[in-house]
Amino acid sequence: MRALVRETELSTRHLVLPLFVCEGRRLRRPIGTMPGQFQLSVDELLKEASEAFALGVPAVILFGIPDKKDERASSSCGIVPKAVRVLKKELPELIVVADVCLCEYMSHGHCGIVHGGRVDNDATLPLLAKAALAYAEAGADIVAPSDMMDGRVAAIRAALDKAGLVEMPIMSYAAKFASAFYGPFREAAESAPRFGDRRSYQMDAANGEEALREVALDIAEGADIVMVKPALAYLDLVQQVKEKFGYPVAVYSVSGEYSMIKAAAAKGWVNEQSVVLEMMTAFRRAGADIILTYWAKDLASWLASPSSV
Ligand code: PBG
Repeated sequence: MRALVRETELSTRHLVLPLFVCEGRRLRRPIGTMPGQFQLSVDELLKEASEAFALGVPAVILFGIPDKKDERASSSCGIVPKAVRVLKKELPELIVVADVCLCEYMSHGHCGIVHGGRVDNDATLPLLAKAALAYAEAGADIVAPSDMMDGRVAAIRAALDKAGLVEMPIMSYAAKFASAFYGPFREAAESAPRFGDRRSYQMDAANGEEALREVALDIAEGADIVMVKPALAYLDLVQQVKEKFGYPVAVYSVSGEYSMIKAAAAKGWVNEQSVVLEMMTAFRRAGADIILTYWAKDLASWLASPSSV
């Protein structure tokens, strides 16, 4: 009878699995800060994505880990397009999202070009547009800018349109906060800033109204899906964004949310499956249509056995 009156449905069809892809072959390097997550070479990435897809996970989002970094993110068009091509060839029905950011490819670890110790917003836009176009041309189904430079959605939209990719969807990390919850990811993607922090381009956790302005701007610039990130500590914004704009809303349940539950579960302090299902249901209740989560495969298995839900 509970199911009969349940208001919120959590289903595998909402899930996107983040994956880290690196150069090389037969590599499956465990990420110390994120138990159960790996840096994968393209062949291993294909195995992981096939497994997820077979479980019913409809989409993955790719983060590239290049061999070489410099101050112009020259390697940003290397490993991700390669991975996209392989995934789309072998698993054409899998939705492949390409994260668009420069921090993984920059020697200093910032998301944009640095001039005189500061991130230069406008000088960064052409590089982001170039990367997004390369991913789209490789066959990505969605590009997802996560850099938080102002004007990047417009720049990417213009580059895609100019190349004739007028139907290419953009999922923008619209309200992305400067968050300590990204800590474990920065080990995973080897993208910690070498100096300073990301507070000049990512948002202040205290600012909800500003988050709504950021979302409005991204929509005006051409975003098709808007994201709130992190998820757990920002559900008020998920709800407001959904109510105010009525757009498809994504939430990114980030590395810190994953690692803290993994750590507590390893100690036997919380039941991993129960807390994760509760947390994901809360994302849906708040209004999220799409959930990016490192638990996507586990969730697919859990949701497949009705006794667990
Ligand atoms: C890149 C990016 C980050 C995350 C996604 N894209 C890190 C950051 O902004 O420092 C975080 C994801 C996670 O913590 O799981 N800009």
